Amino acid sequence: MRSNYLVKDLLSEITGLLAPHIQRASREAQLFVIAYLHVDELWLLTHQNEELQGVDQIFDWVHRRINNEPFEYITNSVSFYSEEFYIDQGALIPRPETEILIDEVIKNVEDTNAVLTFVEVGVGSGIISIMLAKHFPNAKIIAVDISSQALAVAKKNIDKFALENRIELRLGSLLEPINQKIDYLVSNPPYIQNGVALESNLSYEPQNALFGGEKGDEIIKELLDEVLRQQIKFFSCEIGYDQQDKIRLHIKEKNFNSIKFYKDYSGFDRGFTLISV
Ligand SMILES: C[S@@+](CC[C@H](N)C(=O)[O-])C[C@H]1O[C@@H](n2cnc3c(N)ncnc32)[C@H](O)[C@@H]1O
Repeated sequence: MRSNYLVKDLLSEITGLLAPHIQRASREAQLFVIAYLHVDELWLLTHQNEELQGVDQIFDWVHRRINNEPFEYITNSVSFYSEEFYIDQGALIPRPETEILIDEVIKNVEDTNAVLTFVEVGVGSGIISIMLAKHFPNAKIIAVDISSQALAVAKKNIDKFALENRIELRLGSLLEPINQKIDYLVSNPPYIQNGVALESNLSYEPQNALFGGEKGDEIIKELLDEVLRQQIKFFSCEIGYDQQDKIRLHIKEKNFNSIKFYKDYSGFDRGFTLISV
């Protein structure tokens, strides 16, 4: 490592360091340099011979990446639904599949100007509540999380999008912190069965964002019971690929009638919307 680099030499040194450890090393090297220098793709392409000084810290990033830390936590940035969000280890890294959950909600509420109260359980980084607030300008959104670290990440993003008057954050479990009528409940809860061995990069993510209990679907079932008890009209929720049957059985016992499951981009079950009549 030296102190002065041409852009092209920095890229090739980072690529060489990453290559034995990760796939797409050359692409990640580009993305690291772009994030580190706060430049864009075009700048990178057109400034290959630019001399850079004082880039030592980018090698700290590279070493974190070699230890399998997710790229998004290192750069504190994640793309979701064509927007850039702040992220750190306090909250789950948003997954592309969760965009489908938002599309589901948008499909169910045709009137963009509807005056509704949305509640999100498990707000994490805030991506769902923020995208809903942007899409439904007259909606009020209350977003709950059991983790104050997650709420701190959500707050950063809510401030970034200037939505502090539209989205209210509350600390607590499930619907405990809510005492008003809910028109639409939305959630991407933790739904992995406790104890399942996960890939090493997932160890950097908050474990209470991933594991949902002894069976995995406990939080989903608790939310379903609350939907019935409080007569909430709409409930859209993300689920694990193998949970449809157990959820169908649960709601059959409770006499729900209208549930529609949706699949993710790979064709696996990924969520449902339940509309109470
Ligand atoms: C899978 S993450 C989803 C985060 C974000 N909504 C997203 O889609 O990327 C689940 C979130 O639920 C929160 N959570 C876990 N148990 C909870 C509970 N009992 N009540 C409220 N939130 C909970 C976790 O802290 C985590 O932020």
